[in-house]
Amino acid sequence: MSKKHTILVTGGAGFIGSHLVRLFVNKYPDYHIVNLDKLTYAGNLANLKDVEKSENYTFVKGCINDAPFLEKLFSDYDFDGVVHLAAESHVDRSISDPMSFINTNIVGTVNLLNAARGAWGDFKDKLFYHVSTDEVYGSLGDTGFFVETTPYDPRSPYSASKASSDHLVRAYHHTYGMPMVISNCSNNYGSYQFPEKLLPLFINNIKNKKALPVYGDGKYTRDWLWVNDHASAIDVIYHKGKNGETYNIGGNNEWKNIDLIHKLCDIMDELLERPMGSSRNLIAFVKDRPGHDRRYAIDATKLKEELGWEPSIQSEEGLRKTAEWYLANEEWMTNITSGAYKQYYEDMYADRV
Ligand code: NAD
Ligand code: TYD
Repeated sequence: MSKKHTILVTGGAGFIGSHLVRLFVNKYPDYHIVNLDKLTYAGNLANLKDVEKSENYTFVKGCINDAPFLEKLFSDYDFDGVVHLAAESHVDRSISDPMSFINTNIVGTVNLLNAARGAWGDFKDKLFYHVSTDEVYGSLGDTGFFVETTPYDPRSPYSASKASSDHLVRAYHHTYGMPMVISNCSNNYGSYQFPEKLLPLFINNIKNKKALPVYGDGKYTRDWLWVNDHASAIDVIYHKGKNGETYNIGGNNEWKNIDLIHKLCDIMDELLERPMGSSRNLIAFVKDRPGHDRRYAIDATKLKEELGWEPSIQSEEGLRKTAEWYLANEEWMTNITSGAYKQYYEDMYADRV
């Protein structure tokens, strides 16, 4: 019997990783999906309850900064591909604690590249897929879009650490011949996102009638993509992307923060059967994030034209689905905000408003 195609997904218990693991486990019963995750504050096995017993799925708790452990993991499993998502992912935390971003995002990625290189011999039929962010390109003015050839200009410790890891993945390709692809994606939203990021934080605050801390003038712009669409893009790129290439992934769905928040408030008023406008009253403009990038916008033409991928849903539908999910999954949220990470969560937001 031939060996099953075996993929190592790192960070599979996080927000995007859990959606990717679910997609791969359900769509490819003939693959073996191994999820390596350290279970930091952002990793949560509750995100994968529905697939945890699947025969083609294995969870391994471990850290990408533990090189001997990675060496053994690669020898135990004979991976065909790696989809690397494990990272520290929140810009605000990178401002208060840059070093953990350097350690995980840069050093951790090199550890993983070394383990793959050590195990993969001539690299035949192997692939190292690095999941990255559009934030590596810096900040746009009122017009223009990021394309794959836009020069890197990262401006936060988070984006600088991701840019560095992108460069290192490319360096391993050029220097050692590591087969690789990189995708740079815009802001994701959807179910199972840790409530430190804008949308789940605000949904939870609206529900609990807490203030909504809008940084600066609220006119910062992000291009929002439904997380399930990011997972489907990764699937397409993993299977059809060309060795050595980079693909931008985006929703063509730009919103100024304040407009997005207004829309969210109105949807929440409807879902919670509150008088229209009552959630908007919770908005509080607060001190700006230092170095706050003004605008991100992705041009995903290459991915559409070369690999045929497009997002499946439009923003308002996605926002509504997302709000409904968090309201229907109160226990998931409560376990975070009052469970093991209560203190962690509160420390981050105690002095906001
Ligand atoms: P997340 O913070 O929700 O999840 C990160 C996961 O990595 C967690 O499960 C955590 O436990 C795990 N992890 C952290 N350090 C680890 C370590 N040392 N060893 C093993 N596992 C470790 O992040 P996310 O939002 O799901 O993002 C996933 C990836 O996608 C990241 O690389 C991020 O840079 C990238 N990305 C995110 C977005 C977004 O909007 N969230 C957009 C584009 C790209
Ligand atoms: P975030 O979800 O942290 O993603 P990123 O910084 O990676 O884009 O933030 C999205 C936008 O929302 C960003 O412009 C910062 C802003 N924001 C607020 O105004 N208030 C908040 O409490 C948070 C978490 C973010």
